Amino acid sequence: MKKRVFSGIQPTGDIHIGNYLAAIRHWAAMQDKYENIFCIVDLHAITVPQEPKVLKAKIREVSGLLIAAGIDPARSILFVQSHVSAHAELAWLLNCVIPMGWMQRMTQFKDKSQKQREQVTVGLFDYPSLMAADILLYDTDVVPVGEDQKQHVELARDTAQRFNSIYGETFVLPEPMIPDVGARIMGLDDPMKKMSKSESGSGHAINLLDPPEVIRGKIMRATTDSLREIRFDENRPGINNLLTIYQLFSGDNKAEIESRFEGKGYADFKKTLAEVVTEGLRPLQERYRELTAEPGRIDAILKDGADRARPAAEKTLKKVMDKIGLG
Ligand code: AMP
Ligand code: TRP
Repeated sequence: MKKRVFSGIQPTGDIHIGNYLAAIRHWAAMQDKYENIFCIVDLHAITVPQEPKVLKAKIREVSGLLIAAGIDPARSILFVQSHVSAHAELAWLLNCVIPMGWMQRMTQFKDKSQKQREQVTVGLFDYPSLMAADILLYDTDVVPVGEDQKQHVELARDTAQRFNSIYGETFVLPEPMIPDVGARIMGLDDPMKKMSKSESGSGHAINLLDPPEVIRGKIMRATTDSLREIRFDENRPGINNLLTIYQLFSGDNKAEIESRFEGKGYADFKKTLAEVVTEGLRPLQERYRELTAEPGRIDAILKDGADRARPAAEKTLKKVMDKIGLG
């Protein structure tokens, strides 16, 4: 029996190389080893304000990008969270099991609510409960995510454990899977901040659909330091981040990369990096264009995905309701 993988991505902003290098690329590479479910989490997206038309378009765009990045709808289930109502239903049931104190410890809520201030919704606070529902509905063993989501996956695991201890064995306990390298890609304009979809600066992130000249411009302007040596060094966040991106796109090891750029200047390195990134994204961009040229193709894949996900989700939901004494 293969283990079950579940992961999700929000259909907001522009998908960037941080999402790709830490998450999507690994999801695609793991498809044969596991049984996979990938979810476009639109209900999570609306925890902060979204423009309805844009949200609708983004759901298709992100789905198309996942397929273009190698998620194969024949081998993996790809679907939209709101198409399977059990996610919202289980989240409510989990709300009644998760202690308030656990949620108050979530660092992502603290960060995001500081940015939103008085506009913060109850949904944003409750985000981890919905994420726990996503994971627990499918008897998930492994949750591949970037470093920033580790705490949420741990909360899902704790919730499963707590539910099992109150109501008896019900949920499989999930584990996060975080890549060794690239779990946290930093912003190009500010290497102290993680690369983020919600950051507005035009030099902040490299998006998966950026054309070559845009990629090059962003990399050439990326913040580094006044030193000269091109070395992996965590105390030099700018150059370290660029080298990590180079490493992940080229597949070369650190020593090879450092010796290649020995004695070279930052400008030379950045030019080469821009080429490596552009070439790395080219096949994905081509597949995306082919896919979106066929009207209805993505919608059909998403409908099929939801139809395949729903029976498992409903089965778990029913089991949970029975245990609680509902229905
Ligand atoms: P999100 O952008 O929040 O929908 O995240 C989708 C996936 O990308 C999750 O697995 C995140 O952990 C991962 N991710 C988001 N931003 C970064 C980043 N800057 N570096 C590495 N992984 C990231
Ligand atoms: N919160 C995740 C993020 O922003 C997205 C997500 C929602 C997710 N549900 C999930 C990831 C379940 C893994 C498993 O990146």
